[in-house]
Amino acid sequence: MTMKTVWDLQATAARRDRYYAASQKKFVPFKEPMVFRRGEMQYLWDVEGRKYTDLLGMNVCISVGHSHPKVVGAAVAQAQELTHCTTMFYHPVPAHLAEELAATMPKGPEGDVEWVVHFTNSGSEAVDLALAMARGYTGNLDVLALRTAYHGPTSAAQSVTGISGWRHPGMPGNVAFVPEPNQYRGIFGENVGAAPYLDEIERTIATATTERVAGIIVESIQGYGGIIEMPRGYMSGAAERIRAAGGLYIADEVQSGFGRTGAHMWGFEADGVMPDIVVMAKGISNGFPLGAVVARREVAAPMAEKFMFHTYGANPTSCAAGRAVLQVLAEDRMQENARKVGGALLARLQDLQSRHAAIGDVRGRGLMLAIEMVKDRKTKEPDEATTSAVFEACREAGLILSKSGPHRSCLRMVPPMCLSMTDVEVVAEGIDRAIRSVAAA
Ligand SMILES: Cc1ncc(COP(=O)(O)O)c(C=O)c1O
Repeated sequence: MTMKTVWDLQATAARRDRYYAASQKKFVPFKEPMVFRRGEMQYLWDVEGRKYTDLLGMNVCISVGHSHPKVVGAAVAQAQELTHCTTMFYHPVPAHLAEELAATMPKGPEGDVEWVVHFTNSGSEAVDLALAMARGYTGNLDVLALRTAYHGPTSAAQSVTGISGWRHPGMPGNVAFVPEPNQYRGIFGENVGAAPYLDEIERTIATATTERVAGIIVESIQGYGGIIEMPRGYMSGAAERIRAAGGLYIADEVQSGFGRTGAHMWGFEADGVMPDIVVMAKGISNGFPLGAVVARREVAAPMAEKFMFHTYGANPTSCAAGRAVLQVLAEDRMQENARKVGGALLARLQDLQSRHAAIGDVRGRGLMLAIEMVKDRKTKEPDEATTSAVFEACREAGLILSKSGPHRSCLRMVPPMCLSMTDVEVVAEGIDRAIRSVAAA
C-alpha cells in the first residue's frame, strides 16, 4: 500500500483541526494556517514555495541547521542498519554519545568530578527524572523553581513551570516558586542584580519548605519566559543557598545549551556554577527526538536499586544524529558564529529600539534574543496586541519568530546557529518594516 500525502494548505489545516485534540488548539501561532514543506539550514519553504528565515529554530530544536546533511546522513545510515535498539542492550552509538556529552561537563577544581548520562525521549522526561534523582539522592521532597520558568508538559515538569498558561489541574506538589530575577520588569525594579533575588531564595526556603530541600531547577536563560538572563552571581548564589539547605542545583539547558549563548557550551558556565544535574534536549539532535539527564555519578547512584527506562531514550538513530551535531558544532565553529552573529543582531535590535517606542526592552545573548513590546516605556505595560500584529507582519516579511513571555509580549529569536551576517540585515530590516506597518495601520 502506498500512502498518499496531499500537500494542500487548506485540506491539511482542516484535517488537523478536525482530528487534533483541543489541547493543541491554542498553540497554533498564526491567524491563517501555515504548512512548511522543506527546510535547509536557517531557511524554510512553505507549501506554496515561499521562503522564510526561521528565527524560531522550530522551537530551538534545530541547532545546526534544517536537514543538515551530516546529521541527516548519520541518522539515515544508522536507521538503515538498525533503527532501534532498546536501552537494555549494549550499542556503541549511545555509549559514544554519553561519553562525548560527559566530556563537555566541568570537572571541578580538583578535576575529579565524574558525569554519567541517562537518555530520555524528551526534555520534560529529563526534567521529571532530574527531580526524581534529586529527591532520591537528598531524601528531601521540596523543590524550588522560578516564576516564568518553562520546563515541559509532563506532570512533574509542569509542577516546576511558573507560567500559568502551561499549568493544568492535577500536578504533583512540593514545589515553591521564587521570583525570576528579571532585570527589566522584576519585582525589585530595573537592573538590581542578583542580591535581592538570592535573599528571596533564603526567605522561600525558610517559609514555604520544610527547610530541607531536594533542589532548585533553573533555566540558565529562561526561554518561553521571554529570554530572561540570570544576572551575574544568581546561579552560583542560588547553588550555594540550596546546598546549605541540603539540596542540589539542577541546570535546565534545554534551550540555552549546545553553544547557543555564544560564550559557552552550557549557559550555566556564564556564572561559573557547578551543577549537580544538567537537563538537555531539543538542539541535542537537531530535530530527532532525544533528551538527556547528565548527572554527577554519586547523584545518579541511588537509582540503581529500581528500574527506570525510557523506550526510545537511547535510540541509536537519534543518538547518531546527536553525535553528528557535536561534530558539526565543533567543525563549523557554531558557538563562535552564535556569538558573532548574535552580537550583530543584538546591536541591530537595539538600534530598532532607539527608533520604535513600542520596543520596551531588547535582551539576550548569542542567538537567544528577544524584544519586548510595551504600551508605554514608563509604565512598561505589556502590549500583547502589538506583539501579535508585529508577529503576523513578520510572517509577511518572510520571518518566523515566536511570541513568548507570561504576557505574550516578547518576540523571541532562537534561530539555527548557522544564521549569517547577511541574514542579520534581512531580519532587522524585516522587523523594522513589520513594526512600521503595524504603527501605520
Ligand atoms: C527550558 C525547557 N525545559 C524543558 C522543556 C521540555 O522539553 P520537551 O518539550 O522536549 O519535553 C522545554 C521545552 O520547550 C524547555 O524549553
